[in-house]
Amino acid sequence: MVLQGRKITVGITGGITAYKAAEIVSWLKASGAELQIAMTASACQLITPLTMKVLSGHPVATDIMDTSANWHAPHIDLADCELYLLLPATANIMAKAAHGIADEVVSASLLANHAPVFCAPAMNTYMYENPATQHNMAILQERGWQMIEPDSSGLSGSPIRKGQLADIDTIKQAIVGFFANASKLAGKKVIVSAGPTYEFIDSVSFIGTRGSGKMGYALAEAAAREGAEVVLVAGPVSLNDPPGITVKHVVSASEMQDAILDEYDDADIVIMSAAVADYRPAKVADHKLKKGPENQCLEVVLTPDILAGLGKQKGSRFLAGFAAETDNLEQYAQGKLKEKNLDLVLANNVLEDGAGFDVDTNIITAIYGDKIERFPKMSKKKAAKEIIDLIVKLLG
Ligand code: C5P
Repeated sequence: MVLQGRKITVGITGGITAYKAAEIVSWLKASGAELQIAMTASACQLITPLTMKVLSGHPVATDIMDTSANWHAPHIDLADCELYLLLPATANIMAKAAHGIADEVVSASLLANHAPVFCAPAMNTYMYENPATQHNMAILQERGWQMIEPDSSGLSGSPIRKGQLADIDTIKQAIVGFFANASKLAGKKVIVSAGPTYEFIDSVSFIGTRGSGKMGYALAEAAAREGAEVVLVAGPVSLNDPPGITVKHVVSASEMQDAILDEYDDADIVIMSAAVADYRPAKVADHKLKKGPENQCLEVVLTPDILAGLGKQKGSRFLAGFAAETDNLEQYAQGKLKEKNLDLVLANNVLEDGAGFDVDTNIITAIYGDKIERFPKMSKKKAAKEIIDLIVKLLG
């Protein structure tokens, strides 16, 4: 899960072990990483760009001047990543990177890149040991590049010499370790509620709320990406269960409450993004009610206010709630912060264009303490990341 959604660029250069990049790329793809691949001309002679395209599920950049629809400007697009993995790295690419040469797509994207670089050198022993290569590697390490040390080989009786590409498992561990350490919620348990609730009138009809669950699902995924153990309690939605997350499907408000309370004891953070119905029918008929004047009035009672209940037994947990409003957004949200004993309220005006139900975007105002932070319109996925980053910040 730690690699889910992580943006990784893989630069492949012309070492004879270029074929091993195929195994790493398949594994990264299967682990949910979002990949971009760049290959030098010599790498393309050792393993085809088509192989890498099929394995990564993305077009492969081989030409800095590629202006096809796949790229805006390949070397700049490639630099938009969280980790740049250079695998295998030849003496040539390290020499070019050390001296700022940008004469093909891999070296140019390295020059444009500002994400951390993991570099797995692989070359002939004498090339590796050459003072020029050692000097270039020292320059790159000085600039923060992480070298995944090459392995040594040596026939019995002959000296052990370095140069062959590090073991595949060592490379995988380095990548996982990097993202695990970058995981800001490692060791934390996060409960996220999502979607609407349905409150049944009889065996067929219900009253309920609007809610696609998209915001809650995005929040669960964003928390999991930061290394948290996530339990997603979802009302009726038509979204696929995200991989690596425990999903508890519920229908009504009281089922949602039970599912959350079951997980609450050892929870560190709860984010209630569900659009819980405020009312339920006082009685649920066990058969379909007949249409007719005798059934025109529906007696309703309040559903449990789940979040307010959690606020009463908050302890040291961090509680965040949503406030879907149509007017006086900030005023109501501030009230909710106090009344429900919350650390954070995320308010949105559901009548505003690009916010609220069903759409893929949201316009959030975060209210905490006496602070108000207004976010512009953004995708629910981006908003989820902003919210998780804010929670991490508030947790100190
Ligand atoms: O008070 P109001 O319903 O506007 O508060 C909204 C927040 O409270 C949301 O986070 C929602 O998930 C939560 N809520 C709840 N139980 C309810 C109604 C809302 O936990 N019955």
